[in-house]
Amino acid sequence: MCLCTLIFPDLALGKNAKEIRSGEIWPDNQGVHVNAHGGGVLYHKGTYYWYGENKSDTTSSAMVGIMCYSSRNLYDWKKEGVALPVVLDDEFSDITKGCIMERPKVIYNKKTKKFVMWFHLELKGKGYAAARSAVAVSDTPQGPFKYIRSERINPGKLPFDMTETQRAMLDTLDADKYKQWWTPVWYEAINKGLFVKRDLQGGQMARDMQLFVDDDGKAYHIYSSEDNLTLQIAELSDDYLSHTGKYIRIAPAGHNEAPAIFKRNGEYWMITSGCTGWAPNEARMFSAPSIWGPWKKHPNPCRGPKSEITFGGQSTYVLPVAGKKDAFIFMADIWRPKHPSDARYIWLPIQFENGVPYVEWMDSWSLDFFDKNNLNINAHQKMLAIVMKAMASIF
Ligand code: GAL
Repeated sequence: MCLCTLIFPDLALGKNAKEIRSGEIWPDNQGVHVNAHGGGVLYHKGTYYWYGENKSDTTSSAMVGIMCYSSRNLYDWKKEGVALPVVLDDEFSDITKGCIMERPKVIYNKKTKKFVMWFHLELKGKGYAAARSAVAVSDTPQGPFKYIRSERINPGKLPFDMTETQRAMLDTLDADKYKQWWTPVWYEAINKGLFVKRDLQGGQMARDMQLFVDDDGKAYHIYSSEDNLTLQIAELSDDYLSHTGKYIRIAPAGHNEAPAIFKRNGEYWMITSGCTGWAPNEARMFSAPSIWGPWKKHPNPCRGPKSEITFGGQSTYVLPVAGKKDAFIFMADIWRPKHPSDARYIWLPIQFENGVPYVEWMDSWSLDFFDKNNLNINAHQKMLAIVMKAMASIF
């Protein structure tokens, strides 16, 4: 056996022992492809918990519930099981088998010591009409989570940053005048809050969603609202179990879905998708100096082949890697609507150019990509030095 194989067995194989390979089958500890789609990851006490939609082979409706997997290294995933099961014996339950439970996210509340899950809920047999958010809570990260309720967001409340003049203008908007979508007058009316007004009494619609806990412990719910036309960011209560009534609107009529948010050097970044159902489209990106904006639009953060369709995926989460500075993983789903359980995962490192995030496809990569002094380069250099030394002693 050669000297290098003994010292650097992984390098001798020509690759790192552990790799992230987007688009491939990701076997869990039982050898089965991870079933946690539209997911998000919570880091808690040295372990990552990945929550996502369980998808069956033939339907995207919830037949099982929300799954949880755990990992200490982000490569090896242990199936923890169903964190929030669908209800089997009550057809009137919000989460009865056959409903739609999408894009679950879990955050930990330091004050209450509870794990709080929010997800997008659609009632069984009602398509995507309900546009509700649902909340569940657990004492442990793996669950089982206890289902609490589902609802539309902030009934009776207008965005807190809407001025008195804008509020007065809202009163004059007559829905009957704007039945035809995408016309200039319709855009203007959406911008002014036509659908906010429409949904004021019952609460704002919420479909694709994200949660974000800021450095001060305050949590926010970010969701596609107003018939998927406009994103809203709403503050959660101190226990994270309800909304406070404070919210803003972002990019009215911009048709943004799949919001994934992260914070770097005090700046908030959000990657979203367009709105084309299960088919991939071009990602979008926004940034803001405060969670309350102003949110500014940037060009597509994806680069290289298939960047115009987010490499075939749709954003779901940005995962900050624990213990590594400026290390964020862009997570997306490659949907397979004809065989939903075979949907694949895209996990790619977020890179920065002049402080602006971008994402490039990599067939495989490992977490040492993030290290400033890339370990691989160091290892190669060390190996070279040893070989040179050995050769020098021979000649
Ligand atoms: C996507 C959305 C998914 C799912 C799908 C249904 O746009 O991001 O979470 O709702 O539509 O067609």
